Amino acid sequence: MEKNAPIGVFDSGVGGISVLRELVKIMPNEDYLYLGDSIHAPYGTKSLEEVRSLTIDNIKKLLEQNAKSIVVACNTATSAAVAVLRQMYPELPIVGIEPAIKPAALDAPGSRVVVMATPMTLRQEKFQKLLGRYKDQAEIVSLPCPGLMEFVERGELKSEALEKYLTELLWTVSDKQIDSIVLGCTHYPFVEKMIKKVAGENVKIFYGGYGTAKEMQRRLKEAELLTERTGKGTVQFLNSRDTEEERKLCEFLLHTEL
Ligand code: DGL
Repeated sequence: MEKNAPIGVFDSGVGGISVLRELVKIMPNEDYLYLGDSIHAPYGTKSLEEVRSLTIDNIKKLLEQNAKSIVVACNTATSAAVAVLRQMYPELPIVGIEPAIKPAALDAPGSRVVVMATPMTLRQEKFQKLLGRYKDQAEIVSLPCPGLMEFVERGELKSEALEKYLTELLWTVSDKQIDSIVLGCTHYPFVEKMIKKVAGENVKIFYGGYGTAKEMQRRLKEAELLTERTGKGTVQFLNSRDTEEERKLCEFLLHTEL
């Protein structure tokens, strides 16, 4: 593996760009290859086998393009496939993302934490184990959000339809006060403003993007794979939906002020 090769970042669609933003912030000299599989999205409502096989195929594509490490910037793909990927590529630095329950639970012991994620992420044993670890610290409520990532895939970040969707969704867990919300899918930070508008401005939001980026930085340093380049690196977008519109959406999500 070469130090100056790109870091591969993968998601089922454009959501992982919320992690890419954190990576670029803390490692601006690196080159990035971002692969979104928008044509097969959403992953969160597919079967475990399907998600696993799609994820493996996509990681292979990034490795064919010489990626020196992989960020699985998708909670769903991480929960379904990261263990298999680590077995397949024991030498490769691979970092996944999981819902930021730990910081949310430790931030305010005894509080009520709502975890928004895809149905698949919430069903997996990996998530159940995570829940088990923090269930005595806070009241943790799982909230599957089928249909939410599609708004982001369409670039629809503040429409009336989105507000209606979120109002109906959050209503189902509003029998008691919500103290914090964990964004357990990488698409959701792009609609954070709308989530706050609906849930209330006092609700604290937690997201694992920064921690994931820091972990990749640590892993690269440990493997002596950080770039030696001193100038600004590049970001190249690849998407299974290979259209001009898709590329524009990716650029927009990378650069827009959230
Ligand atoms: N961005 C993905 C995640 O973090 C998944 C959305 C999907 O494909 O359903 O879970």
